[in-house]
Amino acid sequence: MHLTREEERILDGEYGWACQTCMRILVKLGELYGATKLIPISSAHISGVSYKTLGDAAIDFLKAITEKNAKVKTFSTLNPSSIDPYLTDKLPRNLVEKQFEILKLYEKMGAKLSLSCTPYYEYIPSKNSNLAWAESSAVVYANSVLGAWTNREGAPSALASAIIGKTPNYGVHKPENRKPNIIIDVSFQPENEVEYGALGYHLGEIVKDKIPLIRGLKNPSLDELKQLGAALASSGMTNMFHYKETLKLNEKLEKITVEKQEINSVIEKLSSSKREKPDMIFIGCPHCSLEEIKFLAKLLEGKKINSKIEFWVCVSKHVKKQEKKSIEVIERSGVKVLTDTCAVVTWTRRLGVERIMTNSVKAAHYLPTMNNVNVIVVPLRECIQISTI
Ligand code: F3S
Repeated sequence: MHLTREEERILDGEYGWACQTCMRILVKLGELYGATKLIPISSAHISGVSYKTLGDAAIDFLKAITEKNAKVKTFSTLNPSSIDPYLTDKLPRNLVEKQFEILKLYEKMGAKLSLSCTPYYEYIPSKNSNLAWAESSAVVYANSVLGAWTNREGAPSALASAIIGKTPNYGVHKPENRKPNIIIDVSFQPENEVEYGALGYHLGEIVKDKIPLIRGLKNPSLDELKQLGAALASSGMTNMFHYKETLKLNEKLEKITVEKQEINSVIEKLSSSKREKPDMIFIGCPHCSLEEIKFLAKLLEGKKINSKIEFWVCVSKHVKKQEKKSIEVIERSGVKVLTDTCAVVTWTRRLGVERIMTNSVKAAHYLPTMNNVNVIVVPLRECIQISTI
């Protein structure tokens, strides 16, 4: 891999151990994937924030690099943590303190404590700009919907890129690697967000790391594409999809048709619990958009949530601040609006929750293994019908 004089100096340790360690991570990664150089990035999105998923060894690493004055060189946002103001006095003190410690370390490095998996609602990257984002749902959204360019970074490489301000030039940073290499013909119109998620999940299982061109979807909304992409990234390894049929294809590609019954089987497979009343309803995986918050407020206007059901809506602080009126309507109904976390990356089981109903296929994929809970996947309207009195 070719390094500039400046990059070589960083690698030799002239700028200190923290920068040297980060440069080593990027060079190793670049060599592994055949990158010939590093390229500048306009933002980094760092995962590895929730103490629940991170553990103590990672805190020691964060401490070590901040003690050596590691500072981010580019605009850097953070994925959700395991707490939010509503949860701080409901969870064991030691867990909450560990989480605060992690946040302080990131703050010291200069990262923005956005604590959301939808950084793109606060900072819209320009088309064709290079990013180093972790959080698979945000990566797929950035590449496929926003037209920005990012590989699916892991927690260490996103952090290293934030501190160096660069990423190795491989994968979808190269135009030739962004072309579709499989065509998916969808033979039906998904009717709601769960069906979009299930379609994405099914495609992730079929295409693995190939880039699909999905044909047949009539004007999907940005929120539907968000659900499709988040689920696609949960079951497969691809970083992006195409959905605009105007795309010109030069070569003959493999074609697969997807039928409605395959989507129904995905929904059935992911619903580990029957349609009994849940302990919790979780909306906002990935975190809700302004439009989703407005729509939810419309559905909840004048309604009350059954007090036996804990109803969470997760959203970024940025969106919450922008849509105060809708948030008031939602909270008046008894729904808890949480920022900074979600039901997957916090300790839901310690809160006594055993059965979660959600409209997110991504959440349905992770909740049983990461939180040891049963899941029921249904669209938002049904979540509201079941929980309101
Ligand atoms: Fe975001 Fe949590 Fe889902 S981090 S994408 S809401 S699992």
